[in-house]
Amino acid sequence: MTGIIPRPVSQVDGEGTVALTTASGPLSGLLGLPSGDGVVLSLGGGQRPGGYTLAVSAEAVTLEAADEAGLFHGIQTIKQLTRDHALPVTRIDDYPRFDYRGAMLDVARHFLPVESVTKYIDDIALLKLNHLHLHLTDDQGWRLAIDGWPKLTEIGASTQVGGGGGGFYTQADYAEIVAYAAERFVTIVPEIDMPGHTNAAISAYPELGAGPVEPYEGIEVGFSSLAIRSEATYAFIDDVVRQLAAITPGPYLHLGGDESLATTDDDFLYFIERATGIAARYGKTIVGWHEIGRSTALPAGTVGQYWNFTTPEESHGEHTLSFVAQGGSVIMSPADVAYLDMQYPHTGEFGLVWAQGPTSVRDAYEWDPAEVIDGVGDEQLLGVEAPLWTETLSTIEEVEFMAFPRIVAIAEKAWSPAGGSYEDFTARLAVFGQLLDALEVNYYRTAEVSWIR
Ligand code: ACM
Repeated sequence: MTGIIPRPVSQVDGEGTVALTTASGPLSGLLGLPSGDGVVLSLGGGQRPGGYTLAVSAEAVTLEAADEAGLFHGIQTIKQLTRDHALPVTRIDDYPRFDYRGAMLDVARHFLPVESVTKYIDDIALLKLNHLHLHLTDDQGWRLAIDGWPKLTEIGASTQVGGGGGGFYTQADYAEIVAYAAERFVTIVPEIDMPGHTNAAISAYPELGAGPVEPYEGIEVGFSSLAIRSEATYAFIDDVVRQLAAITPGPYLHLGGDESLATTDDDFLYFIERATGIAARYGKTIVGWHEIGRSTALPAGTVGQYWNFTTPEESHGEHTLSFVAQGGSVIMSPADVAYLDMQYPHTGEFGLVWAQGPTSVRDAYEWDPAEVIDGVGDEQLLGVEAPLWTETLSTIEEVEFMAFPRIVAIAEKAWSPAGGSYEDFTARLAVFGQLLDALEVNYYRTAEVSWIR
């Protein structure tokens, strides 16, 4: 069984194996190839962006790609194929279905230190995911230092769900995360969630809201709002967004916009136009949760992140189509299949259940991103993302436990051609579990998969 995860576009296996022996070339160090290999790497092939061709024969082992990301992806495949310093004879031609293949970490509900975030970057890079969305602010914590606003971290970062102290990233910490990610061909997508989910900022600076509020360490949503008709709010947003844009080399800034239940409809539309306009002036492409599609004044190219269900309720599909109508695109994150913090069916140890109950590996696998909303197909989709919220999770081991193995299913939705059978997927997942063991990635050994011990 040489099955690769995510499933490649084409794989033709031959007979036998080839030992890896000779020294590696200069690119392999850069790309983290295991030492003791004999893989000939070459750039400038005719592959698609991010794609690669791996050819293993008795004569040679060659990995060819058009770009370095493609070589990196090919090396992730080689890591899965290698057994006892040997590779099976095979030819793999592979490239991603979507440009944006993401995971999200909520570092606001529980703060995760830099070394936990970089571990998660390693974990997702293995799956050929190439974006990490960091949910940096929420009611329970503000996690990034902003020059000129010291109370955001003195007060706003001191809390988290359930107490026990919070934490924050200095801008140098953030730059370290960005650089670590870039070495693994992962782009950081920072989120400042507004105008709701802002209690932490308002607890630090009451003038940003309707006056003094207590810090919050619970898990309710929808009760906070920035002061929409105050110019001080937009001066704050300008400072935050300008500083964040300056330390974010990637193209995207995520402005949140979800569950603004304490903001009137008129105020919400006014706010979204102002806030997205500010961010666009700093040269970034705006991403927002699909609710900001209620605005018809979005900057060019604004990306909507859909987080309702695989069968859209009420007007959620319509709000998502609005991004397409305004020339933008969509990231699919249906909560009932792609939210990694939902409980597994057989363990309630961690996680929530509001997104239509527990989520199995089968649930996470058996859907197609292009079939959720009529009018949002492959052409309109920028990609797929698996968010993970941390109301019930406080360590990287707990995060990994909830993410793996379901994130593997979502990564396959993002990378592999449509289709694929669940039985074939779980057979490949069983083998992949050995690599997770070897790399010390924690995962839920669900009985849905016949893990190899
Ligand atoms: C969300 O789950 N409120 C984006």
